Amino acid sequence: MSFDGVAWFYDWLATLVFGSQWNQVQQAPAENLTGKRRVLIVGGGTGILLNKILGVERIVFLELSEKMIAKTQARCLHPQVDYVYADFFQWQTSEKFDAIVMPFFLDCFGPEKLEMAIIKARELLVQDGELHVIDFQPASHWKNAQIRLMYLFFRIFSGLEGKALLNIDRLVRKIFFAQKSEVLFTRGWIFYRVYS
Ligand SMILES: C[S@@+](CC[C@H](N)C(=O)[O-])C[C@H]1O[C@@H](n2cnc3c(N)ncnc32)[C@H](O)[C@@H]1O
Repeated sequence: MSFDGVAWFYDWLATLVFGSQWNQVQQAPAENLTGKRRVLIVGGGTGILLNKILGVERIVFLELSEKMIAKTQARCLHPQVDYVYADFFQWQTSEKFDAIVMPFFLDCFGPEKLEMAIIKARELLVQDGELHVIDFQPASHWKNAQIRLMYLFFRIFSGLEGKALLNIDRLVRKIFFAQKSEVLFTRGWIFYRVYS
């Protein structure tokens, strides 16, 4: 899977589909992250969230796409960001984080890797750490049809591994996390949940 080929038009496409709400969705975690010591952003894409995060000691921005990292670096004003070009599943670190943000990252995978990603997130968090997830959930027939189209599009243009939208929320809760807060966008199609 590589998002390099879509990085140059990714924001344009997202704004076309979601309109002006796109920035709002992307930046939703910013307030909740204020004051955290260490934050890890996994699959952060073009980094729309970064400039809105304040008062964080250290941010690790981990991405598998070099082109996405380049786009993020061009827009990011944060001095505390460490960019890591790596596969989250292969990445080794002894560092623990107060919060991990996964914006539209978990929907990239099939059931096995989805579970692996959540388990790895749990291992990388400090004891009272938080997992911040922004993603899709099943909604109306029309929106579910749009999701299927998006999967097809990204399977063709970026080799997306996931074939269909899974119940991310159910799995996150099953693997130990309890929901702390929730914000819904686009009539419940997109959720932003904080789990701890
Ligand atoms: C669907 S895009 C989401 C981008 C952005 N976070 C957003 O909200 O629009 C998924 C992102 O995850 C990255 N990604 C996919 N697999 C990854 C992996 N194994 N490790 C790190 N990043 C990965 C991709 O390069 C891509 O930028």
